[in-house]
Amino acid sequence: MSKPIVVSGIRSTGNLHLGNYFGAMRNYVRMQEAYNCFFFVADWHALTTHPDTKELQNSVLNVLAENIAAGLDPEKVTLYCQSAVPEIAELYLLLNMLAYKGELEKTTTFKDKARAQPDNVNAGLLTYPVLMTADILIHRALYVPVGKDQEQHLEMARNFAQRFNHRYGDLFPEPQAFNFGDDLVKVPSLDGAGKMSKSENQNATLYLADDDELIRKKVMKAKTDSGPIEPNSEMPDYISNIFQIMTLVSAPEVVEQYRADFNNAAIRYGDMKKQIAEDMISFIRPIRERAVELRRDTDYLRRVMTRGAEQARESAQQTIREARRLVGLDYLK
Ligand code: ADP
Ligand code: TRP
Repeated sequence: MSKPIVVSGIRSTGNLHLGNYFGAMRNYVRMQEAYNCFFFVADWHALTTHPDTKELQNSVLNVLAENIAAGLDPEKVTLYCQSAVPEIAELYLLLNMLAYKGELEKTTTFKDKARAQPDNVNAGLLTYPVLMTADILIHRALYVPVGKDQEQHLEMARNFAQRFNHRYGDLFPEPQAFNFGDDLVKVPSLDGAGKMSKSENQNATLYLADDDELIRKKVMKAKTDSGPIEPNSEMPDYISNIFQIMTLVSAPEVVEQYRADFNNAAIRYGDMKKQIAEDMISFIRPIRERAVELRRDTDYLRRVMTRGAEQARESAQQTIREARRLVGLDYLK
C-alpha cells in the first residue's frame, strides 16, 4: 500500500512562533514516517500581505531552518518553496474559473485582511483560498495538518475539488484538515486577546527564535489578576489561556497542581508564570540553537530546497498533465 499523501505550507512572513509549532509543525514531525509528506514555504502567499520583498529570501531560509530544527528530516519529507513549482500556478488558474467572487469575499481571512490593509485589497488576497487549494490538490493530498484558523480554507478546498471533479472528471480527493488528537489547535496570545501570530501582538507571542531572557519577560507580563476569592470560581478566559499555554510545555502533574490551587482559591500566578517560563525555555532553547546553526549553512538549506523542488515538480507534473487532459487542453498529444 502506498502512504497517504500529506501537504502543508507556512508563509514566509516572519519568525515562527509557538502557534505555528503546535498548530502545524508538531504534526509535520509526527507524520513524516507514516505518510508521504510535502511541506513547503508559501512565498507566493506571503506576497498577498507583504509586498516588500527585501526580507523575503531571509524569511524563506528561516522558515526552512526552523522546520528542520523542530525535527523535520529532509531525507524523509519533500521540503520546497512554493514558487519553485510553477505547476501550482497553472492549477490555480484553472481553479479560479471554479471559484466565485461572492464566496471569496465572504471568507473570514479575506475580510480580516482587507480590513487590516484597506489600501491593498489585491486580487491575490481575494483568491488566497484558491491558491491554497492548488497547493494541496497539485499532489492530490488527503490530509492537511494546520491550525484551527485554516478550517474554512479547507472547506473551500473540498468545494473546489468537488466542482472540478464534477465538471471535468474525477481527479482530486477531498482534502481534510488534520491534527493528532481530536481538535485543531489554537494557541492563544499571552495578553488574553486573540491568537499568537507572526505579525500582530509581537510581545504577546512566543517565537522559536526568542532568547531565554525575552521568553521570561514575555511570560511574566502575561495578563493575570489577583486570583479567585472563593474556591471553585469560574475561570476568566485570559487565565484559561495561560493554563492552555502551560499544558503545551509543562508536565501534566504540574498543570494539575496549579489547577487544584486555582480551585482552592490558593493560586499564585507569579509562581505559575515562573514555572511556565522555565519549561518554555527548556522547550524552545534546543530548537532555537539548532535553527541558528542550520541558518548559518545557507548552502545546505539551498540544497534541501533544490532537491525538494525536483521531487515536488515530479509529483505536480503528473497531476497537471491529468488536469489538462480532463479539461481538454491536451492539444499537443
Ligand atoms: P501566521 O498566522 O502566524 O502568519 P501562517 O499563516 O503562516 O502563520 O500559519 C502557518 C501554520 O500555523 C498554519 O497551519 C496555521 O494554522 C498555524 N497557526 C498559526 N498561528 C496559530 C496559532 N496561534 N495556533 C495554532 N495554529 C496556528
Ligand atoms: N494559508 C496557510 C496559513 O495562512 C498557509 C498555506 C498556504 C497552507 N498554502 C497551504 C497550509 C496549503 C496548508 C496547505 O497558515
